[in-house]
Amino acid sequence: MDATERREALKAVYEQARVCRDCVLHETRTTVVFGAGNADADLMFVGEAPGKTEDQQGLPFVGQAGKLLERLLGEIGLERKDVFIANTLKCRPPGNRDPNPGELAACRKYLFSQLELIQPTVIATLGNFATKLLREDPTGITRIHGVVEERVIGPRAVRLYPLFHPAAALYTRSMVDVLSEDFARIPDLMAQGPPPQPAPPEPEPQPDVAEPPEEESGGEQLGLF
Ligand code: URA
Repeated sequence: MDATERREALKAVYEQARVCRDCVLHETRTTVVFGAGNADADLMFVGEAPGKTEDQQGLPFVGQAGKLLERLLGEIGLERKDVFIANTLKCRPPGNRDPNPGELAACRKYLFSQLELIQPTVIATLGNFATKLLREDPTGITRIHGVVEERVIGPRAVRLYPLFHPAAALYTRSMVDVLSEDFARIPDLMAQGPPPQPAPPEPEPQPDVAEPPEEESGGEQLGLF
């Protein structure tokens, strides 16, 4: 799939998400915050859910946490246009409450379609919700931030890199420093390229197709085609 086809395919997923009513969040959202950035990005960030500013503007990470994310990107020589930014939930939970398991389950199809189409080599999960969702494990971010793992997500192996959520660092200077140190490893992870890919699935064995019996000449034919 070339870059144009990929963008078109992403737009088609967006069109589905835009009218999604698969959980209660559609009742309170202003916009669906699908995600934004470079459809060919090698690096993808997955945050938690849109906040108030994101819900108003329809774009991810455009509030205070987004400003910090942009600053951290700048420290490693990247801009928003170089990466793709998405969230586990595409709609804002009212009052910025935590996503609930039903909402995460209803929305994961959109994130997984994004991952499958964009095919990043590095996925940086921001905070607990994205990390637990993509690792399929309840280990918390405090224990595993900055620890890179090779993981098969969907059909492909990626380098999964859990990071603290920038919103958690907004009021804690020491956490900004940790985030900054963890970000500093991203260029090296990207330079490593994709990890070895899993072997493609074996083709299903095909049942032997028996030769049709010879027709006896002169006999009746059943006219099936
Ligand atoms: N926090 C998130 O997790 N995502 C956003 O888009 C904004 C804030």
